[in-house]
Amino acid sequence: MLECFEISGGTPLCGSVTLQGSKNAALPVLAACLLHRGKTVLHNVPDIRDTAVMLQIMEQLGCEIEKKGRTLIIDAKEAKQFQVDAALGRQMRSTILLLGALLGRNQKAVLPFPGGCIIGMRPIDIHITAMQKFGAVFEEQDGMLLAEAGRWDAQTILLRFPSVGATENAILAAVYAKGLTCIQNCAREPEIAELCCFLKEKGAKIQGEGTSCIWIRGVDVLQDSTYTLMPDRIVAGTYLIAGAATRGKITLHGIQMHNMEAVAELLRQMGAAIVCEKDTCYLDGRKAARPLECVCTDTYPGFPTDLQSQLMAALCIAEGKSRIKEQIFEERFRIAAWLNRMGAKVVTDGREAVIHGVKRLQGMTVEAQELRGGAALVLAGLIAEGKTQVYGSSFIERGYEDLAGDLRLLGAVVSRKTTER
Ligand code: EPZ
Repeated sequence: MLECFEISGGTPLCGSVTLQGSKNAALPVLAACLLHRGKTVLHNVPDIRDTAVMLQIMEQLGCEIEKKGRTLIIDAKEAKQFQVDAALGRQMRSTILLLGALLGRNQKAVLPFPGGCIIGMRPIDIHITAMQKFGAVFEEQDGMLLAEAGRWDAQTILLRFPSVGATENAILAAVYAKGLTCIQNCAREPEIAELCCFLKEKGAKIQGEGTSCIWIRGVDVLQDSTYTLMPDRIVAGTYLIAGAATRGKITLHGIQMHNMEAVAELLRQMGAAIVCEKDTCYLDGRKAARPLECVCTDTYPGFPTDLQSQLMAALCIAEGKSRIKEQIFEERFRIAAWLNRMGAKVVTDGREAVIHGVKRLQGMTVEAQELRGGAALVLAGLIAEGKTQVYGSSFIERGYEDLAGDLRLLGAVVSRKTTER
């Protein structure tokens, strides 16, 4: 049996939906719970595959976790294990976020070497270099990464690239490091500020979150705390782009628009009207047909690479030629081939893609091969005439809690099916 999303396209979206919690905030915050030898209550945790895997790993490390809907009660008091189960850990790259927490708590960590994925090699050299500065010594055995440290003192760390995950690992490692740690050239993604706010609620001493220089003064203990996670800005951006691409009118509730200025700016350049009131955003995409001369993905606050595929799908029916440059990952144009089979005209060359707008796309059977490309193919199905089946739904469900349900609330004709293919 195979699972797919089945979409009947051609209908402008019209409706409203409340956003899920942020996957890319939940994962580092869950890792951070391991630092505390006590209790944490987390609200608005998205119910997605990646958080489910992280919770299984945390239980295997000795955490007691009670789940009540999207609220988790985590007790990491007895989480004395520092070896991550290989089979569990290999299910997602974000396992690497346990490195800083396990070293920060135990000065020991054993975890599977995170492989690359279809969007790129995904190396971890910046993570390793940062942990070595704190005193960790690494070796690799049978695909496992072993790390151990004698001392664990504050450091000044300069990241060669503002890696999101490496910044998060350095922060987690610094919480208990004696003295004043300075992390320079930090990533500035909102999820990093969220991690810092979460840790400060627990008594960590952190300054500079949201800037490229973060200071952390080591503490001896953290406190029990309760925290509500931010909404998922990539899910929000996916829905805004879908509203514009289908020339619809949608409302998103529970949004933090100040984190999404780059996305809003591009949608306005396409001709969409966007109005925000507190945590509600209204998009009118009826005139969103203009092409975009050149879009470059970038680190925050630039246009996020995680929305690049969704934007490419939308630009397939813009009235003219658009250009996208993917500056973060080396293999993030793979959906172009599927879009072209649906009738699009996307020409890729290395990290550049030129999208010649066409009148319409034709629905067909396509295959998701990774999370955001899969969401983009569903978006293409919303635009296309006729029926589209997107297989590989498990990739999409790594990050979208209920994509079909949310899109139906926005007026789409979409369902999740199990078929004999
Ligand atoms: C985070 O991945 C996100 N994942 C990704 O979202 C997102 O695409 C990415 O940041 C960029 O914004 C989570 O937060 C769980 P990076 P991460 O380290 O931390 C290179 C999604 O769809 N690099 O900032 O792995 C790397 O190869 C996912 O939700 C090194 O060279 O991203 C890439 O080219 C996909 N060495 C660039 O930096 C390193 O040690 C950015 O990677 C680390 C990274």
